[in-house]
Amino acid sequence: ETIEMSADELEIGGHQHFMHKEMHEQPETVRRMLTGRLDDRFATARLDGLELEPRDLRAFRRVKILGCGSAYYVGEMGASMIEDLARIPADAEAASEFRYRNPIIEPDTLYVAVSQSGETADTLFAVREIQRKGGRVVGLVNVVGSSIARECDGGVYLHAGPEVAVASTKALTHMAVGFAMLAVALGRVRDLSYADGTRIINALKEIPDQISAILDQEGAIADVAKKIAAAPSLFFIGRVRGFPVAREGAQKFKEISYRHAEAYQASELKHGPLALISEELPTVAIVPRDDLLQRNIGAAHEIAARRGPLLVVTHEDVDLGDLEGERIVVPKSEDELDAILLTIPLQLLAYHAALTLGHDIDRPRNLAKSVTVE
Ligand code: G6P
Repeated sequence: ETIEMSADELEIGGHQHFMHKEMHEQPETVRRMLTGRLDDRFATARLDGLELEPRDLRAFRRVKILGCGSAYYVGEMGASMIEDLARIPADAEAASEFRYRNPIIEPDTLYVAVSQSGETADTLFAVREIQRKGGRVVGLVNVVGSSIARECDGGVYLHAGPEVAVASTKALTHMAVGFAMLAVALGRVRDLSYADGTRIINALKEIPDQISAILDQEGAIADVAKKIAAAPSLFFIGRVRGFPVAREGAQKFKEISYRHAEAYQASELKHGPLALISEELPTVAIVPRDDLLQRNIGAAHEIAARRGPLLVVTHEDVDLGDLEGERIVVPKSEDELDAILLTIPLQLLAYHAALTLGHDIDRPRNLAKSVTVE
């Protein structure tokens, strides 16, 4: 597989930073990624690069996703999509931990290595360890011909185009969309109905325009970011499908704003960290309109009652009652796919906080785009 790349994709264009350019490319790159991969007739995704027949796909009894940093958090989003849509036990683990703990490799587990660069040493080593022990590992990789892409037993290219900024944005969105397609493909050889497959395929087609609608709110998100940037520490909270969103949001914030940010399950707040809530500690709460809505609203109210400043990332038609604070409203997808879109405003939030603080956004201190050493 090759990708078309025009010269101006490598240039910054009218943007102040590559990160900004890359966030704004997302509607177009995701549209391109989906082209030819959504199969309306059979209500599934066509991922020929996996080199797995329906019979093979059907035989897996578990899915294990390995990645590092942001790729690991998107792997967690992917695991929940796979559990939701294919009803196969799935989880994600940091490849950097997996490789050092003598993991049990099972023949009926589908291993998925996820990486933008395809060169992350920890992820590559995990791939080799799995293969040495007879496991089958496929890649979700952006860079064509990279080490992980070459060494995996098949895979899906993300087609996000080159990503220059250290803080990953578009590649992550492509990973999340890639997992959604994998989840549908695994689901449709099991119990995911034609109607549900169609529901997900149609929702995926909406994603590019929905991302545009979020990017259009950049001005408002920048205003919030300016206020939040002053805080020395932040909480990002979510639960179940929203928790990996919170983890990735906190990670992005740390990477480029150098502010301490901690992701927490909203459900666990009352078991300890509520003691930290005060006027000094803002919380970014992920509050999707799904079956956990009332519980998430309840957690936000508990924070507000302790005078914690709030930024709620939510959907249209959500009634937050008399909750004070900032609000970002993102377009609703299907519940299983909401994480893809909920993550986008957190990219803009981190970017504008770092901009306010005057940091080197594309090259944050102490970090490398891909860590190819141990
Ligand atoms: C480095 C970068 C992170 C990135 C991670 C995984 O640590 O600083 O931003 O998420 O590597 O990179 P990969 O290329 O494997 O997705």
